[in-house]
Amino acid sequence: MTAPDSWVPFRQHCQLSLYLLAIMTFSFLMHLHCRFFTTRQSLPSLNTTKGSPATPPTTTPTTEQGMWTVNSTRRLGNQMGEYATLYALAKMNRRLAYILPEMHQQLAPLFHITLPVLSSDVVQNIPWKDYELHDWMSEEYRHIEGKYVQLTGYPCSWTFYHHLRQEILQEFSFHDHVKEEANRYLAGLRGQRRNVTYVGIHVRRGDYVWVMPQVWKGVVADKAYLEKAIGYFRAKYQEPVFVVTSNGMEWCRENIDASQGDVYFSGDGRESSPGRDFALLAHCNHTIMTIGTFGIWAGYLAGGETVYLANYTLPNSPFLKIFKAAVAFLPQWIGIDADLSPLQSGATG
Ligand SMILES: *[C@@H]1O[C@H](CO)[C@@H](O)[C@H](O)[C@H]1NC(C)=O
Ligand SMILES: *[C@@H]1O[C@H](CO)[C@@H](O)[C@H](O)[C@H]1NC(C)=O
Ligand SMILES: *[C@@H]1O[C@H](CO)[C@@H](O)[C@H](O)[C@H]1NC(C)=O
Ligand SMILES: *[C@@H]1O[C@H](CO)[C@@H](O)[C@H](O)[C@H]1NC(C)=O
Ligand SMILES: *[C@@H]1O[C@H](CO)[C@@H](O)[C@H](O)[C@H]1NC(C)=O
Repeated sequence: MTAPDSWVPFRQHCQLSLYLLAIMTFSFLMHLHCRFFTTRQSLPSLNTTKGSPATPPTTTPTTEQGMWTVNSTRRLGNQMGEYATLYALAKMNRRLAYILPEMHQQLAPLFHITLPVLSSDVVQNIPWKDYELHDWMSEEYRHIEGKYVQLTGYPCSWTFYHHLRQEILQEFSFHDHVKEEANRYLAGLRGQRRNVTYVGIHVRRGDYVWVMPQVWKGVVADKAYLEKAIGYFRAKYQEPVFVVTSNGMEWCRENIDASQGDVYFSGDGRESSPGRDFALLAHCNHTIMTIGTFGIWAGYLAGGETVYLANYTLPNSPFLKIFKAAVAFLPQWIGIDADLSPLQSGATG
């Protein structure tokens, strides 16, 4: 081999590496982006027509009304947002919605979802037209063209589906055994209390702990936020019981004061199988969330009061270009402002 010959593959190798690096960086940024929300003040309002009856799961779907699906990305909270968005947009556009096997695999063990599942070979043989969504509802989504549409992007906003709230809650109703396990667990925490109120707490830690300060000039929930949120419920309800779930349980044990005997650290923190934690939170009466779609969906399903961390980035954060609280949190939810002083002093969480 001559020198130039061997140089070529080397250079190609370099280019390939750069290319892969670029892809990884891009998907990493998308990944960060997808966990949060962006906004547009265009909310669904009108009643939608009946378009997608609950068809039983099938692998040979009718093509009369075409076939819409949604890409299946990331973990539970995102998958739920994708499912609910597909459900709502297909209905608005009078198309039949089907889900990918990957989504079925994540959601069906927990919920009574009704959208039929495509088999992998059907998926591969359909000439899908990708339709990229931003994270919130927009007027143009009422008129999406195409018989075989795959919605993509990271939809995560109640503005897509809140007008169908009852149907969405029905789709995300738990299987009996999941429900029973959660209720049994909660009943076990009750002790001698006669008039108990369960408050689920989800503390999102993990990668957010460095991603928020380093990428988004923001913070994650701190000790003071959780104290305020817990204080709110202690003041309002007679006999509250707080059920903590987190992917950083050690931090929770060190930072949440359990000395009053009403705080229980319950989650198993496994992000790979988040069903148990999620079911516990959803069966509580009220919710304290920090950030992320998992907590948002827990609050949505629990259906009581939800307290969330608000204003958790600096005013000049790039995050604010893609995020507005208005489409992420329901209007009646209660925000508690984050303490941004760790960012101003240069320290990171
Ligand atoms: C719209 O929905 C509301 C509440 O679900 C219902 O009372 C009303 O009759 C509906 N309107 C139309 C035009 O379907
Ligand atoms: C669908 O999701 C997969 C897995 O996250 C991703 O690799 C792929 O690029 C997505 N497709 C589109 C069209 O967004
Ligand atoms: C139970 O507690 C709630 C507040 O937590 C209170 O409004 C209600 O009156 C209590 N019920 C009884 C029977 O004490
Ligand atoms: C609170 O949650 C428990 C457990 O899910 C449930 O049994 C109870 O009915 C709820 N209480 C209220 C007032 O909704
Ligand atoms: C967050 O910041 C906005 C804009 O400065 C302010 O209007 C709002 O009251 C703050 N707090 C909450 C909980 O939304």
